[in-house]
Amino acid sequence: MISKTIILKNFRKKEISKKNKKNLSFLFKNKSEVINSLSIKYKDKYNIRNIKKIAGNLEIRIIGMGGSILGAEAISSFFGKKGKKKFHFINNLSSNYQFKRKKYCNLVISKSGNTLETIANFNVLNNKGDKNIFITQNKKSYLLNLAQNLKSEIIHHNNFIGGRYSVLSEVGMLPAELMGFKPNKFRQLNNIIKNKYFLNSLLNNVESILSLSKQKKNNSILLNYNPSLINFLEWYKQLTAESLGKKNKGIVPIISNVPKDNHSVMQLYIDGIKNNFYSFFFLNEQNSKKVYFKRFSERFMNFKDKTLTNIIYNQKIATEKVFEMKKIPFRSFNILKRDEKTLGELFIFFILETILLGRALKVNPFDQPSVELIKTQTKKFLSVNPSK
Ligand code: PA5
Repeated sequence: MISKTIILKNFRKKEISKKNKKNLSFLFKNKSEVINSLSIKYKDKYNIRNIKKIAGNLEIRIIGMGGSILGAEAISSFFGKKGKKKFHFINNLSSNYQFKRKKYCNLVISKSGNTLETIANFNVLNNKGDKNIFITQNKKSYLLNLAQNLKSEIIHHNNFIGGRYSVLSEVGMLPAELMGFKPNKFRQLNNIIKNKYFLNSLLNNVESILSLSKQKKNNSILLNYNPSLINFLEWYKQLTAESLGKKNKGIVPIISNVPKDNHSVMQLYIDGIKNNFYSFFFLNEQNSKKVYFKRFSERFMNFKDKTLTNIIYNQKIATEKVFEMKKIPFRSFNILKRDEKTLGELFIFFILETILLGRALKVNPFDQPSVELIKTQTKKFLSVNPSK
């Protein structure tokens, strides 16, 4: 148990190296803005009353890419719909977005203020009567200029927090507050620092992943047993991939939805090539529907009247049992509650794990040099191809 609401079954126990322990205390001592944003001491640079006044009763369209939007999306689907407000997430380029209302509140999030997809989406979607709120760095950029011209509300994105580490800063917490959640309940670092089980598990997981990676097991398969975790896993996928995929190193995160994938890739996972390690994610559902097995067949008599969650849970522990029998490396997160504290702990666990892995692998977990290459090339092609 790493906290009251998260049970974590670790990979096989590993000796925790002094180096990784040192790296962790270094992070806590030399608090960067990323680490600060995980604690209740962090001060958000917006006035929620003002924001709520601007948004009024309008539906919210969050427009952003990658780390600028994945955290808010993870929060939204983890909790499902809360309150009356409706949120739309514009996180890709598509001609198929269909919006029927006359007015929306557009919440545009971009640290650089120059992300092509975010700019294009805003320009395509923004209507005359819309309200607009921008979260962007206080540095000259396309979106800052546009926001100033539109006389929109501008909240300054923290200069020292990159997209994929920004979920507990203004970037994720302003949308969370509009959804009806309390930012400081997510910011659990102050409690985590005192929690030996959490910290030991974190270090154990870092050691295990490093050791698996040395054995050329670089595919990290995320077995997702609850559809409401899908965007949390999308967030985690981006965090690990973009942070660690450098210098011919990295971990390839692959989301696999189960039990659906039991009937697709599971055979390969169990008996195929052995370059994977696995993380199980199970979230307990309180109001799961009952399946009345007994009514229809003697064959299912022993099942009694189980709920859908009972079936899924038993499939999960059955799969873990088979993995143990076949000596397939895995860890397993059993999430007992849907609240801000639990989700905050999960965000913090994986942010710290990624930074520690980056340090151990000697890569900079905060940059993404090759993503920049595609941006530069796209700009070049766009300017020489006027009709395409
Ligand atoms: O994690 C990151 O740094 C990236 O995924 C960025 O969030 C993404 O590229 C969008 O960048 P920006 O916030 O500058 O629009």
